[in-house]
Amino acid sequence: MTFLRDKSALQSTPNISEKITLRDGRQVLLRSVQPKDRDLIRESLTTLSIESNRHRFLSYRTNFSDSELKYLTELDGKNHYAIGATTLPEDGPICGVAIARWIRNTSDPKIAEWAIIVTDSFQQQGLGGLMLNILAETARSQGIEKMVGTLATDNFKSQALIEKIGKTKFTPIGGGTFESETWIG
Ligand SMILES: CC(C)(COP(=O)(O)OP(=O)(O)OC[C@H]1O[C@@H](n2cnc3c(N)ncnc32)[C@H](O)[C@@H]1OP(=O)(O)O)[C@@H](O)C(=O)NCCC(=O)NCCS
Repeated sequence: MTFLRDKSALQSTPNISEKITLRDGRQVLLRSVQPKDRDLIRESLTTLSIESNRHRFLSYRTNFSDSELKYLTELDGKNHYAIGATTLPEDGPICGVAIARWIRNTSDPKIAEWAIIVTDSFQQQGLGGLMLNILAETARSQGIEKMVGTLATDNFKSQALIEKIGKTKFTPIGGGTFESETWIG
């Protein structure tokens, strides 16, 4: 799947804004994350099930500090990029429903760490797979060749999804987790 039709636009900072229809017919706005998204991120954290929260953070998080929210939203698109999905204004108050990011490794610039969360009521609608594809495309456009992640050993859905992105190796690293390495170059 090629979501980013205008690849020339990705020479510096990827910028995406597109309405998409999910499998059940609901619509969401998929767009690059911006500094104004702090409140959406803070609020959507409170909607997560215990399992989704644990799979994303490998612990149980109930809030973010102001400096963490600044780090999560003030992105340069070259070393740190994130795509988010929100509900549409015409459907009521805007809610954050998903966010996915990659962060370039400081010691090896061809490697980036990825992470994703889709809020529970929007899972199984194809959004996670789509956003992982966008992560891979944007990362590749910035010279990244390998995406790495840390996954709980019982996170079978994420293991299956990341394997669809590219050849993936899973290495147990203790504490009930695997490191995943996915070649996207
Ligand atoms: C992992 C996650 C992002 C997936 O998002 P999603 O929007 O539900 O994903 P999709 O709807 O695109 O796809 C889900 C796929 O997983 C598959 N799946 C579901 N349960 C599965 C399981 N137990 N084993 C293997 N595959 C499974 C489904 O068949 C589906 O594939 P399909 O597209 O071929 O139907 C979401 O579940 C999530 O946010 N989980 C919590 C956070 C997390 O685990 N993050 C990853 C680590 S940072």
